[in-house]
Amino acid sequence: MIRPRVALFPGSFDPFTNGHLDLARRAAVLFDRVVIAVAHNSAKTSLFTPEERVEMIEDAVRGVKGASAIHFSGLLVDCARRIGAQAIIRGLRAVSDFEFEFQMALMNRRLAPGLEIAFLMPSQEFTYLNSTLVKEVARHGGRIRGLVPPLVERRLQERFRETAKRADLPAPAARPRRRAASGARRASGGARRAGGGAPEARTR
Ligand code: PNS
Repeated sequence: MIRPRVALFPGSFDPFTNGHLDLARRAAVLFDRVVIAVAHNSAKTSLFTPEERVEMIEDAVRGVKGASAIHFSGLLVDCARRIGAQAIIRGLRAVSDFEFEFQMALMNRRLAPGLEIAFLMPSQEFTYLNSTLVKEVARHGGRIRGLVPPLVERRLQERFRETAKRADLPAPAARPRRRAASGARRASGGARRAGGGAPEARTR
């Protein structure tokens, strides 16, 4: 019997963006199963719980054949072993991603020599997109349509409305709708480590 080709696509996904979705779709063309794995990271303060993130990812990838979502704690290579993955998928958007990814890939290879690490490039329109920027824009009531899947958009707006209410701040105002092209292209700036000052740690 032919062994199914399984890829593990790990990340913080706080939250899952359309850039992540683009990568999941690309991976699904190459592998029979793509398991999107949300890492528990106690060192980072996250906006969404791992369970919330899994729910949003499952919703976003409903139409992507072979894709599913889980959350995990501990080492990535152990998670890969548990689910029978032969490869880890990571996205490379810009040169700035490379150094960290290279270190991580070599460490993972040392820990699990049989596991391949495959880098995929997202569509150009998502090159400047990352979870931190999306949260920043949403926190201030900016338009995030086109940057994240619809459920993520709703959950971000709800979360920041709740936060504003608790802090007795004016809720982020919904900006008037524009007819311009995809918001993704407008959310420029900031590759992996750009931006900052957010209460949550930066995420890709
Ligand atoms: O989206 P991110 O934050 O860039 O993802 C980083 C992630 C979750 C892939 C990485 O931190 C990870 O693999 N964490 C699990 C713990 C682990 O195995 N660490 C060693 C990596 S060499």
